[in-house]
Amino acid sequence: MGQAIQHGHPIEIIDYSDATVHFNVLGRSIIVLNSIEAAHDLLDERGANYADRPRFVLFEVMGWGITLTFLRWSPRFKLHRRLLQASFTQSACKAYRPIQIEEARRAARAIIADPKSWEILLRQFSTAVVLRIGFGIEVQEKDDPYIKMTLDVEEATGQGGVPAGNVVDFFPILRHLPNGIARISKLFRPLIHARRTKPFIQRLHDAPWAEVEPSIRAKEQPKPSFVHTQFGRYLANEAAGRPNDATIEDLKGAAGAIAIAGGNTTWSTIIVCILGLLTNPDARVKARREMEDVVGVDENGDLLRLPTFDDRPRLKYLENVLHETTRWQPLSPLGVPHATLADDEYKGYRIPAGSVVYPNVRAMSRDERHYSSPEEFCPERYDPVTQGGRGEPLPNGPFGFGRRACPGEHLAMSGVYIMISTLLATMHIQCPKDHHGNDIKPNVEFSDGLSGVPEKFECSVVPQSRRMKELLRV
Ligand code: HEM
Repeated sequence: MGQAIQHGHPIEIIDYSDATVHFNVLGRSIIVLNSIEAAHDLLDERGANYADRPRFVLFEVMGWGITLTFLRWSPRFKLHRRLLQASFTQSACKAYRPIQIEEARRAARAIIADPKSWEILLRQFSTAVVLRIGFGIEVQEKDDPYIKMTLDVEEATGQGGVPAGNVVDFFPILRHLPNGIARISKLFRPLIHARRTKPFIQRLHDAPWAEVEPSIRAKEQPKPSFVHTQFGRYLANEAAGRPNDATIEDLKGAAGAIAIAGGNTTWSTIIVCILGLLTNPDARVKARREMEDVVGVDENGDLLRLPTFDDRPRLKYLENVLHETTRWQPLSPLGVPHATLADDEYKGYRIPAGSVVYPNVRAMSRDERHYSSPEEFCPERYDPVTQGGRGEPLPNGPFGFGRRACPGEHLAMSGVYIMISTLLATMHIQCPKDHHGNDIKPNVEFSDGLSGVPEKFECSVVPQSRRMKELLRV
């Protein structure tokens, strides 16, 4: 059994090793896994016991309904997991590629026309993709109300603090505290934030569904999407008198999960990738040269065509740029906590049933046993030593672990790939210059909520050539 390090405090550290820290906070066991090995041993290898989630009381206040991310281990969890996992396997995602290409090119055209709006236009890309795939809804303008909706939702989740880590998560009764009293202490700021942002989450669940429901019921010309498939099936079963596994609330929750878990995360990853390329301009130059080799160039140095998904297997350096993006600044630094269903023991430490287990993905990404100079954005680190690289392992953890691992990883990374490759093909992306012509380096700062969002930074975007503009128009 591990040694007691601190006693007599509301927070007691019971067991401690480099890899795992076990706190007892007001009677609840909280385990933080700091190493890839510990996360793999427990969350992957013993996945069945670590497949639960704690109760997210603060997120309940925020209005999260039946959303897979927050569902406890239950038949309903299994239903949602099945619905979403089957829709976004690597092969199922191939069907979404035309949407991703079309939206990436639309975004690139819009950025060239209005370079200062690059950030919101990239948000338009990621929102448009998930709304088309989830609901069959098209977003064509950066001023579309759905873009505002995703900004609002990001504010709600990005600034809600560590998930399951607020005082109301420990004492659910406190969720009923009137605002007048809650305002007295900083401890309750997240509670006030959750109440204020509740309408944002409600809108996310209701608005896209309300837009497409009538046309699905009326069997109008369907635009293929998750909701059309699932709700169409639901209605067909109902008409034939067959039972349905999922209720309408389940389908709304599952579709809402795609919109929220998919849009802001993909956008954030694209932004982090641009940030990484600004901090390491050599990586940008190398990725561009590789694209020229793979796609081919004309006598003016212009690419012969725009990159597609068929090029991806040969754009190996770019693939490392994408891996490095997820390692360098993991979107969910403390992961989304799992919870244990039964008592367990690990390396002599007892892990009681109901423990809350955080995979500390940020610590894993900074583990110098695996990653040299971990703060550097260095795509070459994954190349074999024989090819001049560092032979370091691909990141493990940015998309979670075991039975709760992200079901949207393939969809997300194809979106990031096609957007970044289209940007590299059509634009120079660089740091803006000061009066003396020196680069203004971006600040690398992130928010610390469920998903860490980068602080705003400046980026100069200049079209590569007229030829590339023409290719984008086709
Ligand atoms: C680069 C973008 C993304 C990142 C970095 C990311 C990361 C994560 C992480 C860390 C988790 C928690 C895993 C765990 O608990 O072990 C998660 C869960 C989840 N993600 Fe993603 N995700 C991304 C994109 C997407 C997309 C596009 C979708 C849409 C289909 C999606 C849907 C989900 C859902 C539904 C869950 C909850 C799974 C569960 O609790 O069983 N994610 N994601």
